[in-house]
Amino acid sequence: MCGIIGTIGYPDAADALLQGLRRLEYRGYDSAGIALQKDAGFAVRRAVGKLNALAGVMHESPLHGTTGIGHTRWATHGEVNLANAHPMMSGDRVAVVHNGIIENHRILRDTLTAKGYQFQSQTDTEVLAHLFADALDHAPSLMAATEVVIAQIEGAYAFAVMAADYPDQLAIARQASPLAIGLSDDAMFVGSDAIAMGDVTQRVMFLKDGDYGVLSRQDVAIKDAKGQIANRDVTIVAANPGLVTKEGYHHFMEKEIHEQPDTVMHTLGAFTDADGAFALPQEVNFADMTGLAYLAAGTSYIAGLIGRYWMEELADLPVVTEIASEFRYRHPSYRQISLAMGISQSGESLDTLMALRYMADKGVDTAALVNVETSTMAREASGYLLTRAGPEIGVASTKSYMAQLTVLLVLATVAGHQRGILSDKRRLEIEQMLARVPRLIGEAMAATSAIKQIVPRLAQARSCLYLGRGTLYPVAMEGALKLKELSYIHAEAYASGEMKHGPIALIEDGLPVVALLTDDEHLLKSISNVLEAKARGADVIIIATESAAQKARDEIGGLNGNIITVPDCDALIAPMVLSLPIQCLAYMTAVHKGTDVDQPRNLAKSVTVE
Ligand code: G6P
Repeated sequence: MCGIIGTIGYPDAADALLQGLRRLEYRGYDSAGIALQKDAGFAVRRAVGKLNALAGVMHESPLHGTTGIGHTRWATHGEVNLANAHPMMSGDRVAVVHNGIIENHRILRDTLTAKGYQFQSQTDTEVLAHLFADALDHAPSLMAATEVVIAQIEGAYAFAVMAADYPDQLAIARQASPLAIGLSDDAMFVGSDAIAMGDVTQRVMFLKDGDYGVLSRQDVAIKDAKGQIANRDVTIVAANPGLVTKEGYHHFMEKEIHEQPDTVMHTLGAFTDADGAFALPQEVNFADMTGLAYLAAGTSYIAGLIGRYWMEELADLPVVTEIASEFRYRHPSYRQISLAMGISQSGESLDTLMALRYMADKGVDTAALVNVETSTMAREASGYLLTRAGPEIGVASTKSYMAQLTVLLVLATVAGHQRGILSDKRRLEIEQMLARVPRLIGEAMAATSAIKQIVPRLAQARSCLYLGRGTLYPVAMEGALKLKELSYIHAEAYASGEMKHGPIALIEDGLPVVALLTDDEHLLKSISNVLEAKARGADVIIIATESAAQKARDEIGGLNGNIITVPDCDALIAPMVLSLPIQCLAYMTAVHKGTDVDQPRNLAKSVTVE
């Protein structure tokens, strides 16, 4: 997946495109490029690597013009190199930026090659450029050429195309990948999301799947999937907060970890009435529900796993939490599912979006728990709930995960009360408990001094195990995921009780085993599992609440400095509090290793391809 941007008529198009790409860098950062209309063709600048590399190229060799397109790439087809960086050209006739995957690109490539088109890249996108050139030979207009092209392509796409024959127009289309048009008095914009155009306009038109059309400086002509003229509403989006800065922190991730107390407070504020009682912004009837599905990817999936424990414990409502990319293809039984909720920071992850659409097609109610109000999921689902994490820039999710947990615990509590499982008193206790979380996670940050001692050793490891039980099992999964993605150390999480069914065979002298403990009904069993690992030579690292840590010291012994503690808290909220040290452990290990914490290799903030 990638980010695309375009403009017609903006006085300094190169600057607007570069600023737009900065806001889109969350969608990929393997390479970037910009093409501007120039004389009878185009001027193009491209660079491999993060956007700063392109900014450097443009500084050396500036572009001037009012019409252009830009792209930031996350490689799908073809390695990361200059030849595969967009915009893709067909000679000096067509320039294309594309997000998505053209699934039948091989067949099209063969056909176009047979016609004499020469391919310069390994990308699927280049077929689009040549298809346009080919269509323009015969089509009477850019709109007609677009129709010819989209009739031939299969897959997911959002694209913007400049044709030298039509210097005052941009062709655009979307299918499964998002695309929005930005309108201003004397220029027109197109971008993968509204945020990309936030510097230049707040008037945005969101396209629907199958939409395509042609933009000119003052006009938008859109047709729907059936080829009928479509009128899409213009929405006024919230003023853009401006480019987010690190505010003195070394990395966005460090800043976002520190913002978590505020994130929980803001999110909770939006789900609490004047008396401090949990209240949902929209009425949800949990009482009649027979089942819930939480569908998500990555860290949002892990939040959904924790949400499942909460919903089943507090509301006796069965939940399936499933990886969205699996769910939609396995023909799941959905009859008992009353509501399918997509959990997604961005609201754009394609698999989650598709899983929601799958459920909507089956007639199941859908909802989205998102951090971006203008996102596709928020717009498409029957209802949405908003986390208040603010813009999250670090690719590895931290504060939006914490905000998701906040809402998921609120939902479970409200559901439990509605369904008569939770008394008024218990509901009040949970409300008070959650209100303490911002303070507790603030205090949990003090654990960093203990983490510092452990980091140099962990950074040497080639592999690492994380263990947890109950809600701490998904937290262990999040710990392993964070360590993998940030510091490139192989890490796996296991439910502690599952250790002896296989993974224990991995334990050899010095293998780091990170065990998560809280003072819950599992504590003694979990400690036994740690003892089993230690007896076999594991380098045990305990992350625990104070009292659980004390018990671990008593029972295990010989742990020396290998204990990271957080304040005592009720076991219900322990997954939130214990998430802090596992984030910090991964962050500090990555910093120690010198990896790119905010933009780890091969990843993207929002995955909009399958
Ligand atoms: C990517 C990001 C993860 C994120 C996941 C789901 O893989 O790198 O940090 O958790 O996508 O994203 P979403 O926006 O749907 O929560």
